[in-house]
Amino acid sequence: MACKHLGKVNDKSIERILHPLLSGRFFSKQPSSLKDNELAKFAAISDTWWDSEGPFKPLHAMNPTRLAFIRSALCRHFRKDPYSAKPLEGLKIVDVGCGGGILSEPLARLGATVTGVDAVEKNIKIAQLHAGLDPATSTIEFCCTTAEKLVEEGRKFDAVMALEIIEHVADPMEFCKSLAALTVPDGATVISTINRSMRAYATAIVAAEYILNWLPKGTHQWSSFLTPEELVLILQRAGINVEEMAGFEYDPVKGRWYLSDDISVNFIALGTKSRNTECDT
Ligand SMILES: C[S@@+](CC[C@H](N)C(=O)[O-])C[C@H]1O[C@@H](n2cnc3c(N)ncnc32)[C@H](O)[C@@H]1O
Repeated sequence: MACKHLGKVNDKSIERILHPLLSGRFFSKQPSSLKDNELAKFAAISDTWWDSEGPFKPLHAMNPTRLAFIRSALCRHFRKDPYSAKPLEGLKIVDVGCGGGILSEPLARLGATVTGVDAVEKNIKIAQLHAGLDPATSTIEFCCTTAEKLVEEGRKFDAVMALEIIEHVADPMEFCKSLAALTVPDGATVISTINRSMRAYATAIVAAEYILNWLPKGTHQWSSFLTPEELVLILQRAGINVEEMAGFEYDPVKGRWYLSDDISVNFIALGTKSRNTECDT
């Protein structure tokens, strides 16, 4: 699905929307992506990553749906056959903020050569232990590090995944620049997050954390969410052009997530890095 909701953007509209973001009104100017209080939340529940009824239940439930988007968007972009047994074979993919490896594992099963990184050591230990149980995933390289450190090491990937992490980092703009720097020219960057909308406040925070108890209270800060327009502009600034975007909607009757045009709460975007892109620092 093309990214048609976002209207026409030009340099002036980019500056107007990004100015408060860049001036630190919403985000800190810290160069590192790390936010200690956010990491502490994940460290506290790290032994529950693979409990599909635990605090990561929503991620487990969304996983097949987000994987469907990633699989078809990557196959389209890299001209791969989505119906083959290993459609992502030949692609080097990094999963930034991989947690316990919920996304890294199926990507490896689809044939990708996967590196999973997370800033929380306990998450990486759990991810290694779990992936080691299956020969199809035991080859995943897990590492306790950050996107910016991988950039310093000169690492490059065909595709960079950053799912449900941008709302937990210190500086989304710097974080996106790191993601762009990790992406090879013509490569793809995929980000999923939650919209800073009133509907997201009602569903992703009030309902999910306080009524349904799907997530521990305080998991998300509404002010840390980005709107799809902001994400598109931040990525554009980092040298990534968003090509596809989709929303995730929950069907409470079937208890399942599905892809939709509605990006008012959960959404996912795939962007590509053009051959001549230089990161605008
Ligand atoms: C909500 S979880 C998402 C996990 C995984 N991406 C998924 O969607 O299944 C966010 C993860 O990002 C990690 N994280 C947060 N800030 C980070 C940073 N600056 N660098 C690396 N990992 C980070 C947390 O430790 C946590 O495991």
